[in-house]
Amino acid sequence: MKFESKAIRLQTEKSQFREHSTPLYATSSFCYDNAEQMRAVFAAEEEGYIYSRFINPNSTEFETKMAQLEKTEACFATASGMSAVFASFMAFLKSGDHIIATRAIFGSTYRLLSVWLTKWNIEHTFIDGSDVDSWIKAVKPNTKMLYLETPSNPALELVDLEKAGEFCKSHNIIFNVDNCFATPYIQNPVYYGADLVVHSATKYIDGQGRVLGGAVCGSQDLVNNVKAFCRATGPSLSPFNAWILSKSLETLSIRMEKHSENALKLAQILENTKKINWVKYPFLPSHPQYELAKKQMLLGGGIVSFELTGGLNAGKQFLDNLKMLSLTANLGDSRSIASHPASTTHAKLTEMERQEVGITPGLIRISVGLEHIADIKNDILQSINTL
Ligand SMILES: Cc1ncc(COP(=O)(O)O)c(C=O)c1O
Repeated sequence: MKFESKAIRLQTEKSQFREHSTPLYATSSFCYDNAEQMRAVFAAEEEGYIYSRFINPNSTEFETKMAQLEKTEACFATASGMSAVFASFMAFLKSGDHIIATRAIFGSTYRLLSVWLTKWNIEHTFIDGSDVDSWIKAVKPNTKMLYLETPSNPALELVDLEKAGEFCKSHNIIFNVDNCFATPYIQNPVYYGADLVVHSATKYIDGQGRVLGGAVCGSQDLVNNVKAFCRATGPSLSPFNAWILSKSLETLSIRMEKHSENALKLAQILENTKKINWVKYPFLPSHPQYELAKKQMLLGGGIVSFELTGGLNAGKQFLDNLKMLSLTANLGDSRSIASHPASTTHAKLTEMERQEVGITPGLIRISVGLEHIADIKNDILQSINTL
């Protein structure tokens, strides 16, 4: 089956009621007919559900779809994107190990590596994602993993997945990719040798800003490790959130087509707008990695960033002038969202640190939604015009 059909047609077995749409299994545990059956399920000699901290029909359905869409053998779903990222580290790294990560990664992942993992004696080195040749300098005898995001948030820099895959293979390290921005519809990192693909399902996978969720996809062996870590530590995806996310996957392909179509149109309009220094979008020919984007991405995705000539104050004023776009921390929603990283998400970084991850004072990030492009464009242009 093709991507669209798998996302719709993969379902848990029907119950005795023969329902068309998978019901919500709001139960913390599951029953057995007798002691022998219970023993056999616990001993993994017989298939069966046990306890929703680690297995539930709704999470199993979501995991089955995610694995099929990411083209991996298996997947384990978690309560949030951060618990997926954390589990993908903790299941494989131990005290004394070293991880290499691209510098332009999500803020909480950056802090997880620089504050928490350091406390447990897991070292890290941040590298420039666009300069693969320089990565070799970061490799140490105790390096166990490479972690990256592409495209990056909010600067929309890309990492060459093919080169990253070759790098990991030649150094025999685990290749771990956060594929949240692209989604499996736009990019499958396993084509380039990724061992683990993590997701914040909170973003495009839900697509409507309702629930949190995460997923770790990979080979059965690696996912078994992640599952064992999560079974013991408990960052479980609730059945309700799994039910929502599995239903959301049914429309992922058409949503990503529309997000990308709207985003490309908006980026093209903004390129010809005054009071803007530059516009970044992977599928704009002016993007410095346009050729790479065309090679490894099916579409450009739903995020556009641009820099206002007026700097920090103009960035804040731009948000205040908006009438329709939401000012909120999320992205990947059907509603368009505007954010000004320098005064919000990245305000605690020094100017130098912001520069290193491509965040200039006037940078605006738009998560382009599914409203009519005319309304998105009109709101953004009226806001810029009144600056
Ligand atoms: C690229 C990326 N990875 C991970 C996360 C964390 O996901 P969550 O908020 O679901 O924990 C986010 C959240 O914004 C993100 O943008």
